[in-house]
Amino acid sequence: MTNDEMKKAAAEAALDYIDNGDVVGVGTGSTANHFINALVRIKGKIDGAVASSEDSAERLRSSGITVLNLNDTGDLPVYVDGADEATRHLHLIKGGGGALTREKIVAAASNKFICIADRSKLVDVLGQFPLPVEVIPMAQSLVARRLAGLGGQPILRRDFTTDNGNIILDIKGLSILEPAVLEGEINQIPGVVTVGIFAQRPATVLLLGTKTGVDLIR
Ligand code: A5P
Repeated sequence: MTNDEMKKAAAEAALDYIDNGDVVGVGTGSTANHFINALVRIKGKIDGAVASSEDSAERLRSSGITVLNLNDTGDLPVYVDGADEATRHLHLIKGGGGALTREKIVAAASNKFICIADRSKLVDVLGQFPLPVEVIPMAQSLVARRLAGLGGQPILRRDFTTDNGNIILDIKGLSILEPAVLEGEINQIPGVVTVGIFAQRPATVLLLGTKTGVDLIR
């Protein structure tokens, strides 16, 4: 089984968490795209979706799923999205696709966050994957200096602008032993919009596609 098949298996398993009449929060990335494909099969059962990126919104619309504005829906029952790294404590690194801010917003507005991933995303300690941080452009240099002070090596993501008009610094060389603490510290730096650690609000459930099926961690 390939990694992509494992992603697809996890995405399909997330359908079990969708109820009649739900407005579903939908994430961004290749695993979330498998989830959108699965959601199309049950689109008559749901009342629409809230997307965490322009890419996913476009994909949902072109699949015939109504895309709603989070300001019009209130809290959502469920958010389904992938991750770049995940631990057994349900702490995540996200933002490899650059959509971390809207992902964190939709996750925060959702009662359940179902994280879908292939087995390769499971780690003991977060930080091998460079940690994405969305930053307001004028603060790039200030934020980079502060992040270096925390022990990381921030690198500007080239030729990339977020859906919110900002830049991404990817931080290499961090071993994130206390994810919720570091999440708070980085979020406090002026000019940081969002850090890609999802620990203060972890996933509710992690569905991991493996060679033999889908493992559930909660
Ligand atoms: C998007 O910004 C990310 O948070 C994605 O959820 C993450 O990069 C996972 O992507 P894949 O599903 O493509 O591995």
